[in-house]
Amino acid sequence: MGHAEETSIGVYSGRHYNSDQKLYKQFTAKTGIQVKLLEAKDDSLIERLRQEGKNTPADVLVLVDAARLERAASLDLLQPARSAALLRTVPLSLRDSKGRWVGLTRRVRVVLVNPALVNAASIRTYGDLANPALKGKLCLRDRKSVYNQSLVASQILIRGDAQASRWVKGMTSNVSQPYFSSDIPLIRALGSGQCGVGLVNTYYLARLLNGESGPADRALARKLQVVFPKPAHVNISGAGITRYAKNPQAALKLIEFLASPVGGKGYAEANHEYPLKGYGDDAILKGMGRFQADGLSAEQLGSRNRDAVKLMEANGWL
Ligand SMILES: [Fe+2]
Repeated sequence: MGHAEETSIGVYSGRHYNSDQKLYKQFTAKTGIQVKLLEAKDDSLIERLRQEGKNTPADVLVLVDAARLERAASLDLLQPARSAALLRTVPLSLRDSKGRWVGLTRRVRVVLVNPALVNAASIRTYGDLANPALKGKLCLRDRKSVYNQSLVASQILIRGDAQASRWVKGMTSNVSQPYFSSDIPLIRALGSGQCGVGLVNTYYLARLLNGESGPADRALARKLQVVFPKPAHVNISGAGITRYAKNPQAALKLIEFLASPVGGKGYAEANHEYPLKGYGDDAILKGMGRFQADGLSAEQLGSRNRDAVKLMEANGWL
């Protein structure tokens, strides 16, 4: 027997990993709910939802980075979900206290070192990247990167404004320009010795190590050493039900599935990310070692985004 009336939901996703589609298919097989997927850049999806208002075909919004989820919530694009399942599966620190979004996967922004140029043992914290000994050796992605904004927000929360400012100033005076516009070329620059040390998300390195962009990138990536700063900055990808969802119940079912141990495992592995709890089964990630998270909540990171951008601007982060 098929479903008499076919239910479908619209999903807007800023995750652009082909392998996510497998999970949506699994969900459809399990529930009979069809998923109509639109993938685009996170910020353009937020803009699109704003413009569509009540006419949006989207029931679920998936975004990467806590700052973006928080932004969507503060623009009133998401509605709170009441779900005992989500309370169970998503740790408190990885969800909005008002229930408007939950984390689905975790990623860590790590220090990546070319050991031919920089001694990895000399770096234990993000603060060490401001050490003048690294002058001309540090490569950074530009200020527009929400990943860097959230990292700076974490340092504001941990060290306070004044210390965080000194840290950013120290780093920007160490920078070997130009600033990068994404993580992958930064990793290549590290591998080729153009930079000695940089900041990247774990999954980008994992993709290269996995050979997903060919043997040359894999060879470059293998030359590099990961340092998990103590403590480490952990961010998320996550989702919420849109304010004007036509089918909020089916939307919630999808989010519950993606946050469940089975769905969550697949979602994390699709992009070499960590699941909501523990280290997962990705062999490449496991090979990078263990980390000690800084304990900040995703909501806290999002709430300091504006301060972070201002601080970066004031201290020379281009
Ligand atoms: Fe990314």
